[in-house]
Amino acid sequence: MTYQNIVILTGAGISAESGLSTFRDEGGLWAKHRIEDVATPEAFIKNPDLVQGFYNARRRQLQDVTPNGAHLALAKLEKEHSGPVTIITQNVDDLHERALSHNVIHMHGELSKVRCTQCGRVQLWLGDCTQDKACSACGKSPALRPYIVWFGELPYYMDRIHGLLGQCDLFISIGTSGTVYPAAGFVADVQKAGYAHTLEINLEPSAGISYFAEARFGKAGDLVPVLVDELLGK
Ligand code: OAD
Repeated sequence: MTYQNIVILTGAGISAESGLSTFRDEGGLWAKHRIEDVATPEAFIKNPDLVQGFYNARRRQLQDVTPNGAHLALAKLEKEHSGPVTIITQNVDDLHERALSHNVIHMHGELSKVRCTQCGRVQLWLGDCTQDKACSACGKSPALRPYIVWFGELPYYMDRIHGLLGQCDLFISIGTSGTVYPAAGFVADVQKAGYAHTLEINLEPSAGISYFAEARFGKAGDLVPVLVDELLGK
């Protein structure tokens, strides 16, 4: 079977072998930090220094990690496949880009950017962000917040994503527990559209496993390069 239009949803599991923590595995980020302390708009109003500190630490961590075999294989797929390959990622790291994937949609934002709450400007931000830093566009401070979608906020690019889900003929989900909506519902949307093959790659069955036509269990770093070679006919 050959496919033309491939859409890939990635989650924290694809970056685990690079050394970045997932959220819900044992010892994951949400075992160490309470979501309501660091990942909601209310948390930022209540204690902005704590929230900035949480994302500063995660931003710093990016300097110590590199893409793994799964990221690199997806970049190869985008380069060598004859049709479109789009990655929709829930991850806020930049490992897909560093592996040289170009067609990447960050639906939950990006650690390497901040957004001005006063003028809306999104800008690249590679160091620590603190409340005394001013926005380079409007000059106001405190104004900068992590460019991250928090619980209770709407993910980015949803119109574009729904268009892609309706057009693909292969939907692959890699390294996500399938517990956070709307991403957790993408496989059901694809299934409803009716003509795409759906494949899950994860360490263990996700919450949405029953919606997938096919599943492969193991480490993304092992399974994704094999899959990509299959898709490229190698
Ligand atoms: P989770 O931590 O919920 O799930 C990670 C999944 O990856 C689990 O099902 C693991 O079994 C699997 N996994 C771990 N290591 C793996 C490996 N080496 N290879 C393959 N799979 C592996 O992370 P997400 O599903 O990405 O949102 O979480 C979704 C969202 O919840 C995140 O984007 C974040 C979080 O709250 C926001 O912060 C808005």
